[in-house]
Amino acid sequence: MADLSPKPDVIVVGGGIVGLSVGWQLLQDGVEAVVIDAAPGTGASHAAAGMLAPIHEAYWGESHILGLNLAASQAWPAFADQLGADAIDYCRNGMLMAAYSADDKALLDSLGDLHEQEGLPVQRLRSRECRRSEPLLAPSVRGGVYSPLDHHVNPRRVVAELLKRVPVIAVSAAEIARDQVVADDGRRVACQQVVVAAGAWTGRLLGVPVRPVKGQILRLSGPEGLLGLPVRGVVRGSSVYAVPRSDGEIVVGATQEEQGFDTRVTAGGVYELLRDVLALLPGLSEVDLVETWAGLRPGAPDNAPIIGAGDDGIVYATGHYRNGILTAPITAAAVAALVQGRRPPVDLSPFSPNRFDAMPAARLPDAEPLSGVAG
Ligand code: GLY
Repeated sequence: MADLSPKPDVIVVGGGIVGLSVGWQLLQDGVEAVVIDAAPGTGASHAAAGMLAPIHEAYWGESHILGLNLAASQAWPAFADQLGADAIDYCRNGMLMAAYSADDKALLDSLGDLHEQEGLPVQRLRSRECRRSEPLLAPSVRGGVYSPLDHHVNPRRVVAELLKRVPVIAVSAAEIARDQVVADDGRRVACQQVVVAAGAWTGRLLGVPVRPVKGQILRLSGPEGLLGLPVRGVVRGSSVYAVPRSDGEIVVGATQEEQGFDTRVTAGGVYELLRDVLALLPGLSEVDLVETWAGLRPGAPDNAPIIGAGDDGIVYATGHYRNGILTAPITAAAVAALVQGRRPPVDLSPFSPNRFDAMPAARLPDAEPLSGVAG
C-alpha cells in the first residue's frame, strides 16, 4: 500500500471548523499536522449561522456544557484577532432573545430565571425596550432577554482563513486507527497520533454514538445594517434566529430534525423558518432570499461534545451539536494540549469518548460514503 504523504506527527480527520482549528493550533505549537478531508468546510460549518452564544444556547440540566461554552466564549477574542476579526466578520454587540406571544414570554421568563440562577449577565427587556434595541422587531413582541456575552461570526469566512493556514489532503478517510488513516482509494497516511473531528460522520467511521441532527437554514440579502442585532425568537413555541452579517446578509435558522443523513431542503422547512422570522421581524419580507441550505449537526446521546482520548487510542473532537463554531477554539486548545501531553485548559472528564461504554450501542443511521465531513 503506497504512502500518501511524508509522515506527519498528527493527522486530523475532518476539515470542518473544529478539525481545521485543531490542525492550526497544533501547527502553531510546532507539531506537524495535516487535515484529511475530500471537501473541507462543506459540512456543518458551511450551514452554520455562526452564533457564539453560550447564554442563549443554555438549557436546563446542561450546566457542564454551559461551563465549556463560557470558557469557549472567552477563547474567541484571541482566536478572532489571530485570524483577523474583520476578515471573519466577528461581532461582539450581544444577542437579543425575543418572545412573540404571551406563552412565549412565559418560556423566556423561565429561561431568564435559569440565566440568573447560573449567575449569567443578562438584561430582561420590556416590549418597548426590545424595539429600541432592535427597531426591526414587530410591535407585538412581548419582551426579551439581552445577552451582552453572546457574539457572532461568519463561519464560512473562518473556514476560508483556516484553509489558508492548514494543509489539507483532499481524500476521504475509509479506515482509521490510532496511528494511521487509509483513504478510500487504498492509500495510507501514517503518523504518531490520529485526531477525529468528523462531525456527524464520526459514528459511521468509528462506531462512536454520534447522530446527525439536520438543520435547514436560509440566507437573505438586504441593505447593510438593516438588522443590527442577532435575534433569537420564540414564536408560538418554535425557535428561530436571524444573524446579520456586515455586508447585509442575514442568516435565518434553523430547523432541528432527527432523520439521518438527509440534507434535502424541504418546502415545509423553508415555510416554517420564513413564517416565524417574518412574524418576529416583518420588515424582512422585502429582502431577497438568496440561499436555502441544510447541514448536519453532530449530536451525542447526551448532547455534550466528545473531546478526549478513546480506549482505541484515537483522540476525538466531535459531537459539538449546536455549538461547534463557539467551541472550535477551546476544543483546539484542549486537543493540542492532550496530544502534546499537557494539561488541557478545561476539565474534559464530562466529555470523555469513553463515557458511553456502559450505554447500549446506538443504532446509527445509514449514510452516503464519507465526503465533506463536518466540524
Ligand atoms: N447553533 C445554532 C444551531 O445549531 O442551529
